[in-house]
Amino acid sequence: MSDLKDNAARRRTFAIISHPDAGKTTLTEKLLLFGGAIQMAGTIKARKASRYATSDWMTLERERGISVTTSVMRFPYLEREVNLLDTPGHQDFSEDTYRVLTAVDSALLVIDSTKGVEEQTRKLMEVCRMRDTPIITFINKLDRAGLQPLDLLADIEANLRIHCVPLTWPVGMGSDFQGVYDLRARELRAFPAERGHGDGKEGGFPADGARAPALSLPEHHAGRLREDLELLETAGNAFSLEQYLRGIQTPVFFGSAVNNFGVKELLDTFVSLAPGPRPRTALCASAENREEFVERLVYPWEEEFSGVVFKIQANMDRAHHDRMAFLRVCSGRFHRGMKLRHPRTGKDMTVHNAAIFMAQERSGVEEAFPGDIIGIPNHGAIRIGDSFTEKTPLRFIGIPSFAPEHFRRVRLNNPLKSKQLNKGLFQLAEEGAVQLFRPLANNDYILGAIGLLQFEVIAARLSDEYGVDAAYEPVQIHCARWIFSADKTRLEDFRNYYYNDLALDAEGALAYLPPNPWKLESAVERCPGVEFRNIREIGSRA
Ligand code: G4P
Repeated sequence: MSDLKDNAARRRTFAIISHPDAGKTTLTEKLLLFGGAIQMAGTIKARKASRYATSDWMTLERERGISVTTSVMRFPYLEREVNLLDTPGHQDFSEDTYRVLTAVDSALLVIDSTKGVEEQTRKLMEVCRMRDTPIITFINKLDRAGLQPLDLLADIEANLRIHCVPLTWPVGMGSDFQGVYDLRARELRAFPAERGHGDGKEGGFPADGARAPALSLPEHHAGRLREDLELLETAGNAFSLEQYLRGIQTPVFFGSAVNNFGVKELLDTFVSLAPGPRPRTALCASAENREEFVERLVYPWEEEFSGVVFKIQANMDRAHHDRMAFLRVCSGRFHRGMKLRHPRTGKDMTVHNAAIFMAQERSGVEEAFPGDIIGIPNHGAIRIGDSFTEKTPLRFIGIPSFAPEHFRRVRLNNPLKSKQLNKGLFQLAEEGAVQLFRPLANNDYILGAIGLLQFEVIAARLSDEYGVDAAYEPVQIHCARWIFSADKTRLEDFRNYYYNDLALDAEGALAYLPPNPWKLESAVERCPGVEFRNIREIGSRA
């Protein structure tokens, strides 16, 4: 195998999706311990605590260095190089959280066994569905009394529309949690009795790779387990690698992250099943005619380097208004000092100072392979959705904008600064920090966000970076839907009829901002042939 092919095949790039408090941070920490990327439990937790202790932007900003180094966590495990991408939850849940999922090849779903499927998980899974992302599920907190395992599986199947195939099965739960039965090895693994049942205290097995010891069960548990296993055998799905890779089936593990129970089995299975870098669709210049673009799959082992930017992190260095563009390598090899072509601007860029992110620090990158994430510092020349290549112009597709859920009207406190406000808002929108809408009917600036903290961040950045003192007013907007129709007359009719509720986003795409759900419903009914999209491809008007 060539060096490039071999390196690409070793990469496993994934994200953890979960609702806040399901145990993502705890699980991340255990995975990093297994990968040797951190030495001490509590490292990531301590950061998280300081990060979420306050929603004050300045404090958040001071923590930015930390949040960036934890945006991508890389660690070697067995024969693999694992890249774990953070999906910001809690207050900093934003469009970024969704977009990170477009940069991974698979995901790990964490469900709290005491709660079942929760709201944020449902939203994140919808994004995974768009790309048929393969999912492995970890049902956490078995040391607490929770829902019955069969009910949990039914809940996942019904709410997330994916078939569950348990690979381990819990025996008891809460104070009576005995351990799990490994359905493939056909053996029991004991949950050590001395470990904290339900107190959430750190404990469990050492992170040196030791598996939980085998266990013998009290008769009532053994009887129940036999029944469950029979049921699974007759009514359950058999595991199919192909169906997992197509996002139709999810292998399910049960355990307790805080007790490090079931985590090793999860990680071992993850690295053996999860796919390496997958090919990505791009519009590429045709070999015969450089002006003509054709859609094709770009494979990771193609010699020519290519990559796509899925996230921009601002304020890395306040003095210079520095930004870090997170680029996912899609094909070829990146090396330090490489000249990259930026097809959107037509400019070349020599990259000497790209960063790669390890669990604890950020360091200069010498080389990177498909599946890796590199950070390219810049002063605003790079936008979300931008592609980079070595020579042949191309544009990766599939980096979306998601319909915002919260809206504010911007009020300028100093009218003399209206030019700066305009510039600031357009730049921040291009960066992906917020969405900007300009109504057709007036000169308002309407901001749209997925997470409320985005508004605070934008106000602080407008003041900091553009010298603009802006405040917000509530606005009666229920949602945003991008409007599309192949039929020009229908589109024109729609535009005329709904003129007062229409706006253009920062890229000039037409969006409908209805004041309430009923108006949306009636518009959909009234206008067959018009599409109301809640996702839009960045870089295209449709
Ligand atoms: P998140 O990143 O998904 O938001 O969740 P996080 O890991 O921070 O976990 C949320 C809470 O759930 C934490 O408790 C954590 O200790 C607890 N937890 C995680 N895994 C398990 C588990 O297997 N069993 C039990 N019983 N609890 C678990 P906390 O009290 O909010 O924080 P902390 O003071 O323990 O850090």
